[in-house]
Amino acid sequence: MPRVLVRGVGEFEVERGANLLEALRKFGVPIAAGCGGHGLCGMCRVRVVAGELSPPTRREAALLSGLLERGWRLACQATVMGDVEVEVPVRRTAGVKHRLRPSISISAPLFLVPVKIVEDTPSVEEALISGLRRLGVDVRTSSIRALAAMAVNASRGGTEKVAVVMDGELVDLIDDYRGFGLAVDIGTTSVAASLVDLASGSIVGEEVSLNAQLKFGGDIIARIQYAATRVNGVRELQEAVMGTINSLVERLKVPHERIYRVVVAGNSVMLHLFYGVNPRTLGSLPFEPVFRRSLSARGAELGLRVNPQALVESLPILGGYVGGDVVGDMLASRILEYGTVMMIDVGTNGEVVVKKGDKLVAASTPAGPAFEGVGLSHGMMAVEGAVERVKVGWGGVEYRVIGGGEPQGICGSGYIDLLAELLRMGLLSESGRMMRGPQVREKEGVLEFVLDEERGVTLTQLDVRKLQLAIAAVKMTEKYLLKLLKVRVEELEKVIVAGDFGYHLDPSNAMEVGLLPKVDESLVEFIGNGSLTGAEMYMLSREARDEALRLADVCEVVEVPRHDRAFIEELKLGRWREP
Ligand code: FES
Repeated sequence: MPRVLVRGVGEFEVERGANLLEALRKFGVPIAAGCGGHGLCGMCRVRVVAGELSPPTRREAALLSGLLERGWRLACQATVMGDVEVEVPVRRTAGVKHRLRPSISISAPLFLVPVKIVEDTPSVEEALISGLRRLGVDVRTSSIRALAAMAVNASRGGTEKVAVVMDGELVDLIDDYRGFGLAVDIGTTSVAASLVDLASGSIVGEEVSLNAQLKFGGDIIARIQYAATRVNGVRELQEAVMGTINSLVERLKVPHERIYRVVVAGNSVMLHLFYGVNPRTLGSLPFEPVFRRSLSARGAELGLRVNPQALVESLPILGGYVGGDVVGDMLASRILEYGTVMMIDVGTNGEVVVKKGDKLVAASTPAGPAFEGVGLSHGMMAVEGAVERVKVGWGGVEYRVIGGGEPQGICGSGYIDLLAELLRMGLLSESGRMMRGPQVREKEGVLEFVLDEERGVTLTQLDVRKLQLAIAAVKMTEKYLLKLLKVRVEELEKVIVAGDFGYHLDPSNAMEVGLLPKVDESLVEFIGNGSLTGAEMYMLSREARDEALRLADVCEVVEVPRHDRAFIEELKLGRWREP
């Protein structure tokens, strides 16, 4: 089979006669393709350094003219005939922070096609639509916004524009090839958003912020109560999260009308509130959601600062509190490819999924916001200034601050490190009692560990108690699901940890405190914010959309019985005793 060498990226084999654009995308090479491979936009340009491709097509000759001689080709028009070396122009991206993104084959959700808007019969719209159809782009209707643009731009000689076509609809007419999608992960405590270039599939920006719903309560139970008991509760909560998302759009610095697609992931309560649906049925037995399927709406209906015609969709809910965020994690981690595997996503709500053969079970547990650094004396999110790693020795404390600089607080992974180190040194008992020793001081009759005296960053006894509760809730759920599918810890092929908190985590310390079962460290994989990655995959790939819907069908959501005695037992810090 011929080999394709992509300069600076790598090498792969393809069938002779394979389309070069499809081959590059299949192997995860970020390449723009505004017109969806119709040879119309010129965005999929690559430079052939050496080797053999099919002869240039008429469309390439028209679009590339002099560039053809210099080795440039349109990947969508070229087929691989033998070994070839190409150079793909690098697009400026902000980079994907702390996330593992599996390669996906992109099924372009958006076409950007150059057109001329001509005054013609029987109407400007019909002339434009039939012109697009002649170019092979399926268009059935156009939006009012596009019609308004036609009215302004139509001329006898024709005005050049770029048509934005999405799912058979001509949604807009613009001046350049910039079309974006917004992927959003709505967490109970924080909201993350990424801006996706819909032509290339690359991430061009990413932002995170606290969820403005926090002012109505720190956890999902408080939010449900607020929604269920206040006259305008649901509206207030919906407006709060929309405000947060809109502020993220502002920070992403893109003209909001250029965002044509939005995909949202989040736990069940967050998704209900996003659409303005009262989540009250999740607040009482049998804790069922109002809807599970993937919903869709338009940007304008929801008050989002995106193109008013933007298609807004959500990942499906699995059941109970296990929502689209877990579906996103499962897509991002490729969980279906493993035989026996456990996945955890630790946020304000902890979600655990265990797979054995074709059985897949999931459960959710309220862990509280401690892992996200909220509610602890010096807690903060895993952002610049947060202590993310700690090493404690008899000689003193060493720590690492995200972004360097002075420590402003401690994030979840820093707290796990601290607990593990203090346990090892005997400064913390299994029951969570702090002992006197170096760096430990007494304040108002209670002991606290001093991480940084100058800036007063400490771990208090009360912080330890809150962290113990969070760890115990997750541990109990993990053990219950493993037992349910009769999986022994040593059978696990992989332990997948999702969530921003997880990405900074030291696996041996997570095992030391009992948050993870004791497995070989090489089996622990951190995927970062899988919920956000899953939303991006759902936006860009038809296969990912099909898989998400399949997961919603096959994954069984279970309730973990909460026996007080068993929970008290799990409050003990330390390595696992088998379930
Ligand atoms: S010209 Fe190749 S994708 Fe548009």
